[in-house]
Amino acid sequence: MRTVVCFLISTFTSLLLTECKAENRVDPSKCQVYGPGLISNTVLPARYFFIEAQNSEGKRIRKSPEGVFEVKFEGGCRLWHEVFNIRDGSFIVRYKLYKPCQELKISILYNNKLVAKSPYVLEGPVHPENCYCPSEDFDAWMRSFGCPAQTDKQILEDFEPFPSWNFTEFRPVAWKRFNRPNSMSVCNYVVKNNEVHRKCLGAHVGFKMFWDNILLSMARKVKLPDLELLVNLGDWPLVRLEELKVPMLSWCGSEETADIVVPTYELTEATLECMGRVTLDMLSVQGNTPLPWEQRKAMAFWRGRDSNRERLHLIEIAREHSDLINASLTNFFFFRDLEEVYGPKVKHVSFFEFFENKYQLNVDGTVATYRFPFLLGGGSTVLKQESTYYEHFYSKLRPWHHFVPMAQNLSDLVDRIKWAKENDKEAREIALNGQAFAQENLMPKDVICYYAMVFREIRDRLVSDVKVRKGMEKVLQPDSDCKCLEGHVIRDEL
Ligand SMILES: *[C@@H]1O[C@H](CO)[C@@H](O)[C@H](O)[C@H]1NC(C)=O
Ligand SMILES: *[C@@H]1O[C@H](CO)[C@@H](O)[C@H](O)[C@H]1NC(C)=O
Ligand SMILES: *[C@@H]1O[C@H](CO)[C@@H](O)[C@H](O)[C@H]1NC(C)=O
Repeated sequence: MRTVVCFLISTFTSLLLTECKAENRVDPSKCQVYGPGLISNTVLPARYFFIEAQNSEGKRIRKSPEGVFEVKFEGGCRLWHEVFNIRDGSFIVRYKLYKPCQELKISILYNNKLVAKSPYVLEGPVHPENCYCPSEDFDAWMRSFGCPAQTDKQILEDFEPFPSWNFTEFRPVAWKRFNRPNSMSVCNYVVKNNEVHRKCLGAHVGFKMFWDNILLSMARKVKLPDLELLVNLGDWPLVRLEELKVPMLSWCGSEETADIVVPTYELTEATLECMGRVTLDMLSVQGNTPLPWEQRKAMAFWRGRDSNRERLHLIEIAREHSDLINASLTNFFFFRDLEEVYGPKVKHVSFFEFFENKYQLNVDGTVATYRFPFLLGGGSTVLKQESTYYEHFYSKLRPWHHFVPMAQNLSDLVDRIKWAKENDKEAREIALNGQAFAQENLMPKDVICYYAMVFREIRDRLVSDVKVRKGMEKVLQPDSDCKCLEGHVIRDEL
């Protein structure tokens, strides 16, 4: 009977035809719901989870379903939530808590039927990001937060030259070597009794706010081990391989240097200001992209400033191949005298609009481009220039699987785009792999865990006494009237 009705209707509307095909029909009980937003202890500025539409055979449906997933929050928690349709049969739900609460019940419905194991009950207390309610045990906290047990390979590699952290030794070397106020900005942080202190060197130290923010955020969630760190506020890595005397935490690494890489300030800020001051973050970039793959233009898109000669070269290539590449400079700073040649500069385009195009170009600026995580998240195929610079996650990426590689001098750029156009299925597959990588490695939870793993390594290697020294400034937690709720203690018994 049902098939007959379907048949009759489908002869009139092709839309219903897809819904009537069993393989595209959503089976609420078979859908997948997962993510840190379903766990009480995963305190994040924006908590989030994924919903994946599946059919009755448990196969993923790779297109937007006809019906809607409805998400209901109960339990008296004050919060704000959003549902993003990623337009590939999956959804991201995110929510920001305003007040602590004892229990949060999340129900997900599809056509009024409960989805997967819904309702999900988060047993209290459920604390918002701004509450200072640190867990006592760092290792138990890491587990309950959902961090990997094994320290990331990149971290182990970066730490290898520093089996023990003796700041009595590092500090004087660092203070001499990096005291170049006009070209370098570095800070020495001390975390003692879960309070943050610092002293910075350099004429431009405004970027210390990113380090302040991540340390304070983590100290609200968990009692940090006593730590001493040296951090670089600039983009260029600082520790030359041949000197290799001090462990420096930097946002960008290179093959010629020995800095220890951490997530860039862009990605860190996107994590801490998610559903806050920042509009572009790893969730919104997946949810605010306007078009599904089939409707994106088969063009490579790029916007940026003139921070590298190769970017000027890109403009030349784009002019010769305007059917394949839409690239323009948005600002001239480093090559002002060449504005006549490579200009005119164009107006800023919203990052979300980049993804009206199937291919995105990742071309170095002064160092690695910190937009790479966001490009991967947007679901287009990323063409990545070869580079000696890297961020904390590059070593996990595989060329031709997560991205399409291109030569540093861009000599194969046009061929690569032509390849992608002629091999749409493969290009699409790479785009999906890149996005899946972002979902598994670059989301807010992963950023917090990466820092946690770095701090754990430091704790385990530190041999010098951690002391707040004269001249250090205490970094205060922001004011908050939040009162922590009593509840079960996170213990090391999992
Ligand atoms: C740390 O370095 C200082 C200065 O070189 C040295 O006196 C001290 O013994 C070292 N401490 C350890 C535990 O290695
Ligand atoms: C290039 O991108 C801009 C901004 O999205 C758009 O307005 C313009 O039409 C594009 N040009 C081509 C040739 O697609
Ligand atoms: C560009 O780089 C490739 C190697 O990546 C090299 O084979 C080629 O000769 C270079 N082209 C130019 C024009 O320098």
